[in-house]
Amino acid sequence: MKVLIADKLPEQYIKKLEENGLEVVFNPKLGEADLYEAAKDADILVVRSTVVNEKTILGSNKLNLIVRAGAGYNNINLPAANKKGVYVANCPGKNAIAVAELAIGLMISLDRRIPHNVMDFKKGIWNKAEYSKAKGLFGKTIAIVGLGNIGKEVAKRANAMGMSVYGKDISRIEGVAYKDFSEFDQVLPIADVVSLHLPVTSQTKNLFNSKMFGYMKEGAIFINTSRAGVVDEDALIAAVKEKNLRVGLDVFADEPETKTGTVSSKLMELDNVYVTHHIGASTEQAQNAVAQETVNIILDYIKSGVIAHWVNKAKVTETVYQLAVKHYDKPGVLASILDVLREGDINIEEMENMIFEGGLVALCTMKLMSPATDEMLETIRNNPNVLTVSHVAI
Ligand code: 3PG
Repeated sequence: MKVLIADKLPEQYIKKLEENGLEVVFNPKLGEADLYEAAKDADILVVRSTVVNEKTILGSNKLNLIVRAGAGYNNINLPAANKKGVYVANCPGKNAIAVAELAIGLMISLDRRIPHNVMDFKKGIWNKAEYSKAKGLFGKTIAIVGLGNIGKEVAKRANAMGMSVYGKDISRIEGVAYKDFSEFDQVLPIADVVSLHLPVTSQTKNLFNSKMFGYMKEGAIFINTSRAGVVDEDALIAAVKEKNLRVGLDVFADEPETKTGTVSSKLMELDNVYVTHHIGASTEQAQNAVAQETVNIILDYIKSGVIAHWVNKAKVTETVYQLAVKHYDKPGVLASILDVLREGDINIEEMENMIFEGGLVALCTMKLMSPATDEMLETIRNNPNVLTVSHVAI
């Protein structure tokens, strides 16, 4: 089985894959455009932020699993993966502390203007008078938007600094919809610091727009170490100018895909905006934890077929009925039940067969797209190897 690693991954983890009989191609220089050719004959693809587009996925001959060695998987074209039945998995939580540390670092940097201090020093400028004007963070209010693995780590650190911590949990209900987009008008006006920790989805895209910035305090600190897409950058730039916001960003619009090169952004012109190079997850500790999780996911998959952190598994299907059949666990019993459903042209979306201790009896639960008729249920019940049949609307 061939694994293509198209981003940086520490060498010892590549060895672990090879020790388990996998053929590993390590090419961290590959970019979005090169992946189509490079991934053609790979069974497993590992990426960090490299974009895996529709062409790469649909053009692959053998691809079965894409592992995002990190948390956010918006760089992988999920609709294409769904079309071909390619598993996509991520490594949630493994770099949460690293991202939280950067968010806190940006917050302190903005309060004390550390980068400006250093830049002036290097230019031979001494300006204690100006840089003594910091407000301080103890007792200040921080609004943490998004309380997943990263948001929680930021909360712990802000608490330890004696800040008053408000969390805005916009957790997803099993990937379908966001629970709560309300109360921003109450939390943002009291926040001295706002820190975003959100994935970019259709619900969070441009969530921080001019209305949201309108709620924020004059001179507040705004930090985004999550995804550029959750902020309307033009609205942010306007708010920096109008409200004197101090801003720390690890992500921004049109961020370079490459690891080195040049960069250009309207944000460069703004003195109060500090931008880092999308390095939130890039500590040695976090990289090792993510790489180990990547290895775990791949080895689990090749040894047991089970995908840990499978992100494109349907959370909610459109099934309307559940059929549960308790039966003797003998060859052919399940096939005869499935035959009845096939003849009735009923599609089974999900199915699970669990065995009672001792292995004599099993329970098969099926989620159906349409209800079974009384006649079908009767045929199933009449099977001498069937013990009970339950058929309910869900
Ligand atoms: C993540 O989603 O895990 C972070 O944004 C890290 O991205 P990176 O792997 O490209 O550093």
